[in-house]
Amino acid sequence: MNWPYPPRVAHRGAGKLAPENTLAAMRLGASFGYSMFEFDVKLSGDGVLLLMHDATLDRTTDGTGRVAGFAFGELARLDAGGWHSAEYAGEPIPTLAQVARWLLRTGRMANIEIKPCPGREAETGAAAALEARQLWQGTAVPPILSSFSEAALDAARRVAPELPRALLVGELPGDWLQRCLALDCVALDAHHAALTEAVIADAHRAGLRAIAYTVNEPARADELFGWGLDTLITDAVDLIAP
Ligand code: G3P
Ligand code: MG
Repeated sequence: MNWPYPPRVAHRGAGKLAPENTLAAMRLGASFGYSMFEFDVKLSGDGVLLLMHDATLDRTTDGTGRVAGFAFGELARLDAGGWHSAEYAGEPIPTLAQVARWLLRTGRMANIEIKPCPGREAETGAAAALEARQLWQGTAVPPILSSFSEAALDAARRVAPELPRALLVGELPGDWLQRCLALDCVALDAHHAALTEAVIADAHRAGLRAIAYTVNEPARADELFGWGLDTLITDAVDLIAP
């Protein structure tokens, strides 16, 4: 596809400099000049799409238990910033809709990683794609939907085929290309250690773009771009200029 996305994307907002997957993190990433943000999206117990990496609340909020075990009204009362530092205490868990509003009003772009709670893969993929379609309707640059879950990407493809998809992989499966093509993906989104110059060339020959996560060393970023990488995702928003 035509690639309107920047070469460098901020991971979870601003990497580790602010509480991941919050609006505060994205505002901080933006202050370093980043114009596109990767974040993790899943469903609350009552079907609200929100930003959270883990299936449980314990690491990144002052709550405990499974995200899917709570209605959003309960999750909205949690502190998703105090675990990181006092500066961010009280920062709430944002919804996908809230983040979309900020991104669209400020002219910034999104990589929505669909991160389903176990057993909710297709449901989450479909919900994320439908809501993204609605939120980004009529805008110039659609969000990229990525996931490690092929069931989630397949569900997204069925309900909103026009939204670009990327298959996330940690290690590269032997049939990565067939998997990407089966889901009509626009990109392979691989852990950077799985990428070689040959893999990037194979992706390009097949009409796919290549995205790498999570690249935090400037020298490694240079190497990957030298191999033709299209876009990387980084925590190091302070070390790697956007
Ligand atoms: O989307 C790329 C990257 O975020 C995937 O890994 O665990 O940081 O969500 P993770
Ligand atoms: Mg992620």
